[in-house]
Amino acid sequence: MMNLSCFSTCGTLVLLVLLFWGDVPKGPSKVYAVEEFEKHYIEWDDLTVADESDQGLDLDQRKPSKVIVVDKNGGGDSVTVQGAVDLVPEHNQLRHKIYILPGIYREKVRVPKSKPYVSFIGEEGRASETVITWHDKASDKDADGNEIGTFGTASVTVESDYFGAREVTFENSVVAIPGTNNMQAVALRLKGDKAWLYRVRILGTQDTLLDESGLHFYEECFIQGSVDFIFGNAKSLYRDCILHSVANGSGAIAANHRDTPNQDSGFSFVHCQIKGTGRILLGRAWGNYSKVAYSFCDFDDIIAPEGWSDWNSTAKERTVEFGEFRCRGKGAGRRNRVAWSKSFSFYEALPFLTTQFIHAYQWLLRR
Ligand SMILES: *[C@@H]1O[C@H](CO)[C@@H](O)[C@H](O)[C@H]1NC(C)=O
Ligand SMILES: *[C@@H]1O[C@H](CO)[C@@H](O)[C@H](O)[C@H]1NC(C)=O
Ligand SMILES: *[C@@H]1O[C@H](CO)[C@@H](O)[C@H](O)[C@H]1NC(C)=O
Repeated sequence: MMNLSCFSTCGTLVLLVLLFWGDVPKGPSKVYAVEEFEKHYIEWDDLTVADESDQGLDLDQRKPSKVIVVDKNGGGDSVTVQGAVDLVPEHNQLRHKIYILPGIYREKVRVPKSKPYVSFIGEEGRASETVITWHDKASDKDADGNEIGTFGTASVTVESDYFGAREVTFENSVVAIPGTNNMQAVALRLKGDKAWLYRVRILGTQDTLLDESGLHFYEECFIQGSVDFIFGNAKSLYRDCILHSVANGSGAIAANHRDTPNQDSGFSFVHCQIKGTGRILLGRAWGNYSKVAYSFCDFDDIIAPEGWSDWNSTAKERTVEFGEFRCRGKGAGRRNRVAWSKSFSFYEALPFLTTQFIHAYQWLLRR
């Protein structure tokens, strides 16, 4: 054990080195304080498995972690993803990388609140072949005969903090038929704080991604749905994502649930592409103070010209913040947009544009 003053001095030094040098020496001379510091960050290492054959402790990497291999054909530590999550100890303090070999995993998965620092990692370039899929819809009944409701439908639920995912697909295979009720079917429910999803595919129709709470970074993700297919009260930055509409007749992308003026939440889409079928709204005011921005996005000709909906409440028109900044493409014309949506100035757009929107300096170390 080192004494306290060294702990904080070394810690500060290492922090400075990390911030300004960008690299630290590898090997066993690791300073304990680094781990304390690193625990509160998600970084590229956390989304990387050095070598497929690496099992157990991943010593090749600068940051210690444990790898659990999921292989549906029996060659790994578990044949199911939930089986791997179950191997992570409660109140775990070490990054656990669940390395999922390509395959269709038909199961409902839950990462409980008590298991932080978990990553789901697929093989590079094979996200569409590495699929976790289930098929619950809101009208389905639980064991007591009660409807499970939208939130209970998620194929994958993540309750824990510091979650990471890379190159895997989360799917709910229910196809909501337009004009029917209770077909909401969530693919991913993300309610833990501080999560980074990279090249992840999230597939469904109605209510695909329940972006429930916390700070989240979605980078180069593919998200598919029809009605309110990104919904919840998280504070999230979606950057370089493809939002793929499968709407038939009508639909909406973002239904943000920010309900009071002091809630630090909202959805920001930057450099995203919107394609697929329409007509689809950019957003609907689920919460009274719903906040959604699209900046530098590319809109195909599927955006409903009015752009946004107040969800049948004119009172919300005064309190929501719906804005567009320098978007382009056939659907980007704002001539017929509802008057209470905004064409942002640079200064209005600025808070939405960078990872500062999600307070990244507190928890995200990007490569
Ligand atoms: C669109 O919805 C209508 C019913 O409202 C249905 O008849 C039609 O098959 C749907 N089209 C597609 C491509 O799903
Ligand atoms: C939202 O606004 C409506 C109408 O002003 C009000 O009745 C409702 O209570 C508000 N919701 C919340 C969560 O504050
Ligand atoms: C708004 O009202 C219209 C007309 O009554 C109805 O068709 C529509 O479903 C309502 N939308 C919502 C989101 O409640």
